[in-house]
Amino acid sequence: MNTSWMLPSAESTFAADFDALYYFIYYMSVFFFALITFLVVFFALKYRRGKEKKLTTDFSHNLPLEVVWTVIPFILVMILFVWGFRDYMRMHIVPKDALEIKVKARQWAWAFEYPNGVISDADLVMPVGKPVKLLMSSSDVLHSLFVPVFRAKLDVLPNRYTIMWFEAKNVGTYDLYCTEYCGKEHSGMLGKVKTMAAADFENWLSESAMGDDVPLVELGEKLYKKKACNACHSLDGSKVVGPSFKGIAGKTERLTDGSSVTVDENYLRESMLNPNAKVVEGFPSPSSMPTFQGVLKDREVDALIEYIKTIQ
Ligand code: CUA
Repeated sequence: MNTSWMLPSAESTFAADFDALYYFIYYMSVFFFALITFLVVFFALKYRRGKEKKLTTDFSHNLPLEVVWTVIPFILVMILFVWGFRDYMRMHIVPKDALEIKVKARQWAWAFEYPNGVISDADLVMPVGKPVKLLMSSSDVLHSLFVPVFRAKLDVLPNRYTIMWFEAKNVGTYDLYCTEYCGKEHSGMLGKVKTMAAADFENWLSESAMGDDVPLVELGEKLYKKKACNACHSLDGSKVVGPSFKGIAGKTERLTDGSSVTVDENYLRESMLNPNAKVVEGFPSPSSMPTFQGVLKDREVDALIEYIKTIQ
C-alpha cells in the first residue's frame, strides 16, 4: 500500500515508524527553514539602514526570548534523540525467533543461503509475518544491501559479518539493490525480494531442496505430499478414493476387464502417467485420477515408485 508521495510503500513491520520519524524531521526542517528565511527577510527590511531618526534604541539582551529559543530546540532535539534511538535499537536487535538466511555478495551478484542448504540466486525468498535475520558477508569488495520498501540497508563487507533483520507484512515482490559502488557492473547488481505466506515458503524451501542429490525414497516421500497423492492414497491400508499404497507393490490385482496384473514398476509407472490404462476392480472406471504425464519428471516417477515400494 502506498500511502506516501515521497517514499515507496512501507512493507516491513518497522517501515511505518521509520517513515513517521522521517516525516517529523522533514516537516520540522521545512517549518524552521520557512520561519528563519521569513525572519531574515523581514528583519533585513524592517531594520535596513534608514534616516537617523529611525534608529532603534540600544539594548543588550532579552532573557525570556533567549530562554525560549534555547529550550524549544533543546526539547525538539531530545525528542529526535529518544525517538531515533528507540527505533534504531528496534531495527538492530534481531528477534530471537528470526529465520537466519546467509547473504553472500560478490561482484556482481547476490546469493541467499537457507538453513537447509538451499541457495537462491538473486532472489531473497522469505515468509511473511516472521522476522528474517540476514547474516551477510562479501567474497570480494564492499557491497551494500538495500530493500527500499523495508527501509533496510546495510553494508556487506569482506572478512566480517554484518547483521540486519526485517519482517515482511505483505506477500509481494520487491526490488533489492546493491547500494555501494562496487565496480563496473554495480548498477546491475540487482535482485528481488519475494515474500510468501509461511506455508508457501515452506513448500518453496522443500521443493528447492529437491535436487538430484536427494535420495529417491526421500524425494518420493516429499512428492507424495506435495503432489497430493495423499489425498486419495493412504499409507495405512485404508481405502480413500484410490487404493492404499500399503503393501501394494508386488501384489497381483484383478482389473475391471477381468484380467490380472502384477503391481510392478512398469504398472506403477503406467498408472501415474495413464491412470485409465488398467483400472483395478472395485475402483471407479474411468479412473478419477488425473494423469501425471508432463507433471512428473522421470526422476520423480522413479522416486515415487521407490517410495511406494517401501510402504509395506
Ligand atoms: Cu555490489 Cu554495488
